[in-house]
Amino acid sequence: MMQMSWDTKWEQLFRTRGWNKYPSEQVIGFVARNFFNAADRKEIKLLELGCAEGNNVWFMAREGFDAYGIDGSRTAIDKARERLRSEGTEAHLTTGDVAFLRDLFGELRFDAILDAGCLTCNRLEVVESVLGQVEELLKPGGKIFSIMIAEGTYGADTGQEVEPRTYTDIRDGALQGVGLCHFFTQEEIEKLFTGFTNVHVEYMMRSHANQQQIYKHWIVDGESRR
Ligand SMILES: C[S@@+](CC[C@H](N)C(=O)[O-])C[C@H]1O[C@@H](n2cnc3c(N)ncnc32)[C@H](O)[C@@H]1O
Repeated sequence: MMQMSWDTKWEQLFRTRGWNKYPSEQVIGFVARNFFNAADRKEIKLLELGCAEGNNVWFMAREGFDAYGIDGSRTAIDKARERLRSEGTEAHLTTGDVAFLRDLFGELRFDAILDAGCLTCNRLEVVESVLGQVEELLKPGGKIFSIMIAEGTYGADTGQEVEPRTYTDIRDGALQGVGLCHFFTQEEIEKLFTGFTNVHVEYMMRSHANQQQIYKHWIVDGESRR
């Protein structure tokens, strides 16, 4: 049986500082490409894994979609609820561990499930298990979207390796303080998404600290095989 996977360092982080307030450009692009032309946006169910303080859920709800978000941090979910309420918009928000996605969402089926940096904060076996559950929770033709840290990204060397390419206690750079992170190879990404069809694996890279630090992320999308 899968153990609790969510790293409680996140709770500490949300109590002491914030995370992204606004949606990621990649999430905006994915939602726009696939769903902006929907006849009735309220019929489109979009779920974000690891929604934090609601930056992406806020955007999806504001755009008229039936938005869902789950995060392990109660503080983050409370902040997300408060933000949506204060801006007069609504979404379904759940505190919970995505390792138990199937139990948490039962009979619900989604048009898309988005992961903007959540799964990469877990051990590889958890990522594999969650993607299997995502396959079951998508409607026929439903979409998966994922942003994951790529091998070669700055920070790994400053942390402690707990299994191949999974690090904790990263002591420097943008990943400092976030707890467990897996740095994916392209082979791992390709293997993880074999349960989906029409898979595109792209990447984006940026430098930081006057080019001393390189950050690379895989940007993956695909479709349910059903
Ligand atoms: C890097 S942040 C990304 C937040 C947000 N998606 C964004 O785009 O800014 C990762 C989030 O995933 C959550 N998370 C990581 N692993 C999780 C798990 N196993 N279950 C639930 N939430 C998880 C963390 O609590 C955190 O809020």
